[in-house]
Amino acid sequence: MALLKRCVAVGLSAAMLVSLAGCGGQAQQPTGAPTAKETPAATEVPAAQDDTKPAEKVTIVFARGMDSTKASNNIVEAFNASNPNIQVKFQEMPSDSGQQHDQYVTAFSAGGSEYDVFDADVIWPAEFAQAGYALALDSYIQRDGINMADYMEGQVSALKFKGKMWGMPKFTDGGLLFYRTDIVDKAPGTWDELMEMAKANKGKEGTEFGFVFQAKQYEGLVCNAMEYIAAYGGQVVDGDGNVTIDSPETIKGVQKYIDIVKSDFVPNNVTTFTEPESHTAFMEGKSVFIRNWPYQWNLGNDPENSKIAGKFAIAPLPKGDARSAATLGGWVSMINKNSKNPDAAWELLKFMNGAEGQKISAMDGGLSPTYLPLYNDADVIAKNPHFGDKGFVDGLKAAVPRPVSPIYPKLSEVMQIEISKALAGEQTAEQAVKNMDAQMKAAVADAQ
Ligand code: GLC
Repeated sequence: MALLKRCVAVGLSAAMLVSLAGCGGQAQQPTGAPTAKETPAATEVPAAQDDTKPAEKVTIVFARGMDSTKASNNIVEAFNASNPNIQVKFQEMPSDSGQQHDQYVTAFSAGGSEYDVFDADVIWPAEFAQAGYALALDSYIQRDGINMADYMEGQVSALKFKGKMWGMPKFTDGGLLFYRTDIVDKAPGTWDELMEMAKANKGKEGTEFGFVFQAKQYEGLVCNAMEYIAAYGGQVVDGDGNVTIDSPETIKGVQKYIDIVKSDFVPNNVTTFTEPESHTAFMEGKSVFIRNWPYQWNLGNDPENSKIAGKFAIAPLPKGDARSAATLGGWVSMINKNSKNPDAAWELLKFMNGAEGQKISAMDGGLSPTYLPLYNDADVIAKNPHFGDKGFVDGLKAAVPRPVSPIYPKLSEVMQIEISKALAGEQTAEQAVKNMDAQMKAAVADAQ
């Protein structure tokens, strides 16, 4: 169990706890919220009823991003088999979180009812609640006696806005390093060591690259950038929601990201890489290291998809001057406020994000549960040994959240544009940080 030892030894959780302290503190008190315009959704949840299942047969649509595994299909099949009155159609959306976001916003802002239940990136709930796109779920949660203490706290916090719950947590994500055990016998402890090891080992066992990761101008770039910024001691906003991105620590973190992008051990076109491009390269045996989310474990160990099954291990991301830091990712499920079948939508959501559905996600998709009892489930741990490791799980719980704010898309856009320019050599790290600082401060001020 080399990977388990590794995770414990490096202390994934402790290293991440203090990163970007400010972001975490905002989980329940979003910053920069425009003047409150309470959405009607909050009062429109159907009153509690004894009979929770609709009598008529209805068809509902469940939308989520491209699933490279069989998990989503298997969840839908399992639900359909046990709910003869509700048939769920699975609608696959683009893989890129930002592209999905824009498709939902287009549909929901026009009042569309084509999606009943949808998976939302953990950064969307405040925005979608504020815009009136989602149904508040508190009445359903209370009616069905769901104990939210069974769910990972950070993910529950991301769903709370103006005192209500706007969805249910599905899976959690945290950035990790995966390394080829047939090429290196240990993971690098620091980003500088990673650079040395990636350079020295590139080319071994048929690899073309030392390191692959995400650097396209999209949401994943923000996740990668935040990991470097936090690792070197910087932060984006403080505990009171003030923009504090302009610091020598942040500049150093952004500079490290630039240095790695410009190195000769990464693909020339790494600034076009999202998750699928990077996981494909890793699974084709082309890279010694990859920065990716936990799903990489299951996918990479599937011999049908991967040439490196059984040949890699997991470690925390390397440390910068300050610590090792992983960005908190993950997905929640929400109900479209204009769904014509909210009761049926809730039944799917309850199944999918409860014990049964999350077990399928973990077993067939390698996704990290937000339903905590599954970390003690023998089947889940047999399939994903790292889920049985306390250091690993604590690390996931302590990952660094992105700001919880209805203006998050604007903050993200600023980071995407300015950091992309720096990665392309069009501006220095320092200029990028100064520009982000000015634009983020303006966005926060505008929203107040
Ligand atoms: C993963 C994370 C999500 C993040 C996205 C970026 O899907 O779960 O939170 O925004 O990657 O690509």
